[in-house]
Amino acid sequence: MLDQLIERLKSAAVSDHSQPPADLAIVSLLTEYVQHLKANRSARPMFEDDDVILFEDDHISIWFCRFQPKVKVPPHNHMMVAMIGVYDGVEENALYDADDQGNLTPRQIKHVHAGEVLRIAPDKIHGVTCVSDHPSEAIHVYLGPLTRVDRNLYDVEHGTVLSFTDENYKTLSKTLN
Ligand SMILES: [Fe+2]
Repeated sequence: MLDQLIERLKSAAVSDHSQPPADLAIVSLLTEYVQHLKANRSARPMFEDDDVILFEDDHISIWFCRFQPKVKVPPHNHMMVAMIGVYDGVEENALYDADDQGNLTPRQIKHVHAGEVLRIAPDKIHGVTCVSDHPSEAIHVYLGPLTRVDRNLYDVEHGTVLSFTDENYKTLSKTLN
């Protein structure tokens, strides 16, 4: 089931003249997948790690992402379209705009529940908190090679911009009381 989704997502990402455009086709595929998994617990993939790269090439990156309850990960950019399909729990996505100096302006809070997909534009910043009482589980899809672009992390407390590294990500992640 997951293998089939990955193949479909890869095809959608490279179909130049597709109707609808790639990101809308991917939102549709992801929605169908997460709604199926929401209803069919036994169909869910099993992963030990919270972050798993399922596939990456020049056109698309596909991740499994699990967030633990009350863990708040720092705002960051992607530099490409991001689509988040949740099939268990609730991911709270805080969306921001950034100016040239890296100052963030909060724009919207979106709660992505099991069975829902959120599309995030390439110029948007998001921070994620798992707000369900059990871990959230999701497939995240990015229209580009996510691990091969330079990205930013935003330290809201100190008003600074850091490069996106595992170390900075861990340092800035917080567990809420
Ligand atoms: Fe992200």
